Amino acid sequence: MNTKILEVDSNNIAIQVIKEAAEVIKQGGVVAFPTETVYGLGANGLDEEASQKIYSVKGRPSNNPLIFHISDVDQLQDLVEEISFDAKKLINLYWPGPLTLVFKKNKKISKKLTSNLETIAIRMPENVIARKLIKESNVPIVAPSANLSGKPSPTKAEHVSDDLQGKIEIILDGGEVDIGLESTIVDVSTKHPRILRPGKITREELLEVIELEEEKTNNKNDTPKAPGMMYKHYSPDAKVIVVDKDKDHKTIEEEFPHNTIILTYSSLEEMAKNIYGDFREADKQGFETIVVKSIDKKGLGEAIMNRVLKASSKE
Ligand code: TXA
Ligand code: MG
Repeated sequence: MNTKILEVDSNNIAIQVIKEAAEVIKQGGVVAFPTETVYGLGANGLDEEASQKIYSVKGRPSNNPLIFHISDVDQLQDLVEEISFDAKKLINLYWPGPLTLVFKKNKKISKKLTSNLETIAIRMPENVIARKLIKESNVPIVAPSANLSGKPSPTKAEHVSDDLQGKIEIILDGGEVDIGLESTIVDVSTKHPRILRPGKITREELLEVIELEEEKTNNKNDTPKAPGMMYKHYSPDAKVIVVDKDKDHKTIEEEFPHNTIILTYSSLEEMAKNIYGDFREADKQGFETIVVKSIDKKGLGEAIMNRVLKASSKE
């Protein structure tokens, strides 16, 4: 298959290009597209065969459910059973945006579309290219990050084509993403909302609006609520090592004398936006070890450390 890479200017969207991509979605094909968090790999969320294609293209385990992306709050009612008061507050404040909510699924939605779960994860992205594509396709679009399973998520169209060239019909190239880390996932399907995956919308921000259930300590018998969080994730080929934030470069260089790159950033936002791309670049340049200085798990730091520790397979 020849993968078409189509540039889209988000300030001046060529509707013909969106229509072409939407046609692929309607026909049961797969399209990569930009969101404000990371690039997504999209298919018709109501078409079981189409969403299966995503799993084979990515090499994704079939019990890891996908997020449904919508362009309008009106689409919610056909997908979910109920919308709690807390969910309404979060929707009003943070949609469109980098927040995914997990609801009880509508009985009309087959469990075949939700990896056999009674719940469904939904997000309305802010990126206008993503929203136009969903609107034009006229269906909710399921989309995981558009990388091969286990690899760092793509923050540029080039990262998508490095992983998926020849495997998908179209990549919509909307330039570099704004945020660079995946959405925050909050479970609002029960009485007490819980963060399933930290992200750009921080715990502190959420606590200003709702109460959050404390995370349970790891009980091995508990089924994980965000099944995807248990797999190897976000990992470059190079080994990722996390060191104390106060360690100076000279000591690090002495400890890792061989083919090592130390990644440093001037702000949390810069780190979030660049870290996946830097992991990929380090691989391209043949580094064997990537050293990241640990940061406080506060604000955006919680999401960044979550991804970095997973990449280093320590969490
Ligand atoms: O920012 C994002 O969320 C990006 C962009 C493309 O929207 N998407 C993304 O998708 O990160 P993915 O597939 O890489 O991660 C989705 C996560 C997985 O950990 C999955 O297990 C979890 O969402 N998830 C999906 N449905 C769920 C459900 N019903 N209950 C709990 N977790 C769910
Ligand atoms: Mg992913």
